[in-house]
Amino acid sequence: MGSLDDVIAWRDGHVVAIDQRLLPGELRMLHITGVDDLVDAIATLAVRGAPVLGAAGALGVALAVRQGAREGWDAARLDTEVKRIADARPTAVNLRREVEAVAAVIPSGPDAVEAAARAVLDAAVDASVRMSSRGAEYLASSLGSRPLTVHTHCNTGALACLGWGSALGVVRALHDRGALAGVIVDETRPLLQGSRLTCWELAQLGIPHQLACDGAAPFLISRGMTDAVVVGADRVAANGDVANKIGTYSLALAARRAGIPFVVAVPESTIDAATSGGEQIPVEQRAEDEVTHVLGTPAAPPGTRALNYAFDITPADLVTAIVTEDRTIHPNG
Ligand code: MRU
Repeated sequence: MGSLDDVIAWRDGHVVAIDQRLLPGELRMLHITGVDDLVDAIATLAVRGAPVLGAAGALGVALAVRQGAREGWDAARLDTEVKRIADARPTAVNLRREVEAVAAVIPSGPDAVEAAARAVLDAAVDASVRMSSRGAEYLASSLGSRPLTVHTHCNTGALACLGWGSALGVVRALHDRGALAGVIVDETRPLLQGSRLTCWELAQLGIPHQLACDGAAPFLISRGMTDAVVVGADRVAANGDVANKIGTYSLALAARRAGIPFVVAVPESTIDAATSGGEQIPVEQRAEDEVTHVLGTPAAPPGTRALNYAFDITPADLVTAIVTEDRTIHPNG
């Protein structure tokens, strides 16, 4: 076992997921049987990416129900454990949304909970495939039928979304149509989701790509080396402001300056009508040693302090289009 079809699943009463911390060096599956291990897997980015966090949250509720039955939890304890899953990371709205949706089914019993959790995964796959082809259609109709070079950030493929992915699904759909020249992938410091995960997925799919340092991106865009920036998001506010991996905002600024589209591909489940604008989105701050170290090796003098905001907010006025499985939104009319 272990392929892009096995990113996260419910098997024999527990959660099985690719341990994304080990990629690209090793493809190893995690077998998660309790809430502590699931919360740890989410917090340490063994499972990550907004829709996959939603899937992990949904399956986590089923896991908590099973563990509670095994260990004799009362309703209050089950509620506490479910809330710990929802709180494991703050920015991606999918996590809390799917935990709450599946938790609402708890009164119907464990079988209903497991069915509801599995349905979240099926919906994520379906959304990703529809969003991917809608995004490819949008880019082809805006930019013409010539093969396009797309610049992307972080990891937004199956590892992050199931199915085809979001932004990387759009790339895949362009490739399938013969409409893709190649992909420029930001390495995505500090945790290197671009180089470790996106390059791994693109290699598996046989899609041509080149890796770039994050700091190079605005320069490459200014030199006309890309036709469009396409990214995913962890949360889109009601006004169209976009929270995504740190470094996304500089791509949007560069795209605007160069006059190329900045497109956000997200499932509807990532749009948060309850959050009116980007200033209300909680931006996760992570441990300083993720910045002072690279893959565990010190990269700064001992004692160096670091800022580690995991996400940034791109204001809606820089967003050309938000493509979902159901619609294409133009935040600026
Ligand atoms: O910290 P991560 O790796 O979970 O961040 C993931 C991203 O920022 C992705 O771009 C985002 O979840 C979009 S994937 C639909």
